[in-house]
Amino acid sequence: MTASLKDAARAAASPPPPFRKVHDAARDYLERTDMAASELADRIGYGISTTRTWLQGNYKKVAASDVCIRAAIWEFMERHPLESRDQPKGRLFETENVRHISRVFRRAIEHGEIVLLYGPPGTQKTFALEHLICAQHREKEQLAVYVYGSAGMTALALLKRIGRAAGVRIGRWDRESILRNVIDALVRRDAMPAIVADEAQHLSVECLEILREIHDRCGCGLVLAGSHNLLQLFMRPDRRPHLEQWLSRIDHRDQLPGLQEDEVREIAARELGNGQPAKLSDKFLNTLIEECRVEDIFASSEARSYLSVRRLVKLLAQYKAKKEAAA
Ligand SMILES: Nc1ncnc2c1ncn2[C@@H]1O[C@H](COP(=O)(O)OP(=O)(O)O)[C@@H](O)[C@H]1O
Ligand SMILES: [Mg+2]
Repeated sequence: MTASLKDAARAAASPPPPFRKVHDAARDYLERTDMAASELADRIGYGISTTRTWLQGNYKKVAASDVCIRAAIWEFMERHPLESRDQPKGRLFETENVRHISRVFRRAIEHGEIVLLYGPPGTQKTFALEHLICAQHREKEQLAVYVYGSAGMTALALLKRIGRAAGVRIGRWDRESILRNVIDALVRRDAMPAIVADEAQHLSVECLEILREIHDRCGCGLVLAGSHNLLQLFMRPDRRPHLEQWLSRIDHRDQLPGLQEDEVREIAARELGNGQPAKLSDKFLNTLIEECRVEDIFASSEARSYLSVRRLVKLLAQYKAKKEAAA
């Protein structure tokens, strides 16, 4: 286990904290990111067995000092901090979709309701939910826990993500124990938080059943946000029989539209104005609206289009940059 000169130089240039501190932080990091020891080994450029030995706390039995690998792991964690959800990137426009998402989000928190929000990409689902959750974090309320549904995620991985987001310490327990701990933690709160599952079209029947069980056992609200496939996920003939219980519990199933034309006009005037709304010509606004239009290739009826806020944000940034360059 000889470290390279580069590793030795890094450890000498910025000595890492003591073993206990780095070790605790690394275990927590792997747990929170669901990163396997083999992936960490790959990222820091050490062998898998060396990295495992260090993580097991046995490194000093096989080498004189662990300072090089400790410095490598510390540096990796410093360079790749866990995402902070204190501040989403960018300002939120108060659109009809945002008002609607905000209303059903409140109902999930206050009344334990189950909400399905679906629509094509760029219909403001993730951005609005992130803003709502961050606003709560700033007020130290944490009345919603956010989990991201990834493709192929197992029910155990989903449960761990919910647990971590809810501040439950996840040990190496089995699924039942983690489920019990998550439910205990939610029930002990002064106010029951809702669970927000984004990209929920990726969830398997097993994952959906975990969410339903948590809802049934502690009454927490659920907000599932995703693409068009989200509703089809429940309606597919092969899944439907397994999800009858689920379907009977849904309080709101809302398909989100794109921006309204008036919203594009109003946002553009405000964003391109100088404190006061800019006076923009009809020609400019009509062109802008057409530039925001994208085809909804997944729409079930004949191909439809909608106005994408993502496009609008990009176009406005380009217009602003052009204006500044010309000034
Ligand atoms: N209400 C909004 N105000 C300002 N920008 C928004 C708003 N909604 C979405 N955006 C911008 O559009 C991008 C895509 O929106 P997002 O919410 O991720 O769409 P999706 O419906 O696919 O989850 C965001 O990253 C953000 O830059
Ligand atoms: Mg999204």
